[in-house]
Amino acid sequence: MAELVIALDYPAMDAALAMARMLRGAANATGAAEDAGGRLWMKVGLELFTASGPDVVARLKDMGFPVFLDLKFHDIPNTVRGAVRSAVATGADMCNIHLSGGERMCRAAVEGLAEGTAVRGHGVAPILLGVTVLTSVAPGELPGGADPGTEAARLAVCGREWGLGGVVCSGHEAEGIKQRCGRDFICLTPGIRPAVRGGGSGGDDQRRVMTPAEAVRAGSDYLVVGRPVTGAAGPDGPADAARRILAEMHGA
Ligand code: C5P
Repeated sequence: MAELVIALDYPAMDAALAMARMLRGAANATGAAEDAGGRLWMKVGLELFTASGPDVVARLKDMGFPVFLDLKFHDIPNTVRGAVRSAVATGADMCNIHLSGGERMCRAAVEGLAEGTAVRGHGVAPILLGVTVLTSVAPGELPGGADPGTEAARLAVCGREWGLGGVVCSGHEAEGIKQRCGRDFICLTPGIRPAVRGGGSGGDDQRRVMTPAEAVRAGSDYLVVGRPVTGAAGPDGPADAARRILAEMHGA
């Protein structure tokens, strides 16, 4: 069953933890996520991590959330290897790199994952994902006019070969990637915009978007949602929005 990941895109730790507190219990309250063994994840991205440092990961873990550290490493192999090792040391359950960094960089990341996991001691390696093509990229925006979907699938096949656990891709590519890389190859999908009668929340800067139900039907294993949840009005707005998305996912 697909799991929901909430993007805590905040400039400071306090705001991120306040949102996490508002969301605690949202998954359990639907019944569905718990029954299906699903969990509500929190995602720490570049904005929050740069402001708060690794403490925020520990604080979210203390609250009981699994954490996706979304720092999208892209550098020379030696640097990425060390960065992934450090990402593992934060206690994160999932982290990622850019597949466009190439084979040596990706294989170095896989080594960094193993090294970091050995140091961490409890044996369970975090999931390492490769970013294919950002969901904010529209057809026609890639250099040379490459098609984002074709490029994402091509990179995903490389990622599988290079030892990654899965990819970050749009829902539009998930089905094809599962067919080519196997059902166990994880697809994590941002660019999720809930289906809302009379309009919906819009795509913001996202371009290759899907509703939660569409993404689940396409085979995505994790759905990343930020602004449609964190920007929902009122004290219960975010938890209500998260519950509606979970219900949509489980009804898919
Ligand atoms: O607010 P929204 O739902 O668009 O947030 C999506 C989140 O997923 C952001 O934190 C963004 O950095 C992240 N993300 C993405 N596309 C990717 C990888 C990560 O939108 N390919």
